[in-house]
Amino acid sequence: MSKTETVILKPDTNGIAQAALVLGRGGLAAFPTETVYGLGADARNDTAVAGIYAAKGRPSFNPLIVHLADVAAVHSYCEMNDVADRLAAAFWPGALTLVLPLRADAGISKLVTAGLSTLAVRVPDHALAQSLLAAFDGPVAAPSANPSGRISPTTAAHVIAGLSGEIDAIVDGGTCTVGVESTIVDCSGAEPVILRAGGIPAEALEACLGMPLATPSDPATPTSPGQLLSHYAPQGSVRLNARHFDRHETGLGFGAVDASLNLSPSGDLVEAAANLFAMLHQLDAMGATAIAVSPIPDRGLGRAINDRLKRAAAPRD
Ligand code: TXA
Ligand code: MG
Repeated sequence: MSKTETVILKPDTNGIAQAALVLGRGGLAAFPTETVYGLGADARNDTAVAGIYAAKGRPSFNPLIVHLADVAAVHSYCEMNDVADRLAAAFWPGALTLVLPLRADAGISKLVTAGLSTLAVRVPDHALAQSLLAAFDGPVAAPSANPSGRISPTTAAHVIAGLSGEIDAIVDGGTCTVGVESTIVDCSGAEPVILRAGGIPAEALEACLGMPLATPSDPATPTSPGQLLSHYAPQGSVRLNARHFDRHETGLGFGAVDASLNLSPSGDLVEAAANLFAMLHQLDAMGATAIAVSPIPDRGLGRAINDRLKRAAAPRD
């Protein structure tokens, strides 16, 4: 039996006001961002943040991203630095998360940072997310709004399928345009490091900073805590770099191939990123037991897509 009745809110002023009230009384409200739907809670409220972990069934060592309205708000919670200033000016609002030293007086729940001395922050580029941040007027901790280890949601229907009965409300804002999570850059150390490939391509960050960045594929680079390998798993097995599909396999194509579903028939990586999670959800809905995926070029958004696909293909319990 479900614990809560989940209210589906319209993407209008009243819906946003309702969602802000839910956050204000320590509840959980899912909302759209340009990347994926987030599961929001008041980042200062331990009980509310604990509710996120409970609803997702998420291991509690995995810290959360705090969503803020603008760079001015970021300054109240984190210490900015030169690299962070440049990335923020170039890419916020947008699909970029910065890991920064946490200010001593930030007042952020320790459950958000999992006890780390750094905080992951993001200014989202989505009108409804921005309206919610304005109406709530505080820091919103929000991981992707899916049960732990499952595919991230890019529609309200995905959120409902995974978390209905576990959360108080969902703002239905249609389909997320970017479709993969934000790129995470750790700016808290001597050199910036990309912790997670995502919606802003590494090449764009490197062009902005005028320097190459270490990426998670470098063996020496620490990955984001909680980047569990089995994340993003559809129900079926996943075979990558498939140049042909076997009879028993359901093909997830890219480019000019004959496949059950195609991430982008024209070979456009932006379109493929936007379709990725929706198509993984669709493969589940189709009952696909053996999924084979076309090769995806490892550049631009292809790096984020390949990162998620590798996790989808990883061995599971
Ligand atoms: O696009 C996104 O980033 C979405 C939307 C909702 O904003 N959010 C998202 O959150 O993907 P989540 O919780 O699924 O992923 C958060 C990632 C995790 O891999 C976590 O380990 C990392 O951020 N993270 C959070 N705080 C961190 C910190 N202080 N240091 C390093 N990594 C951190
Ligand atoms: Mg997630």
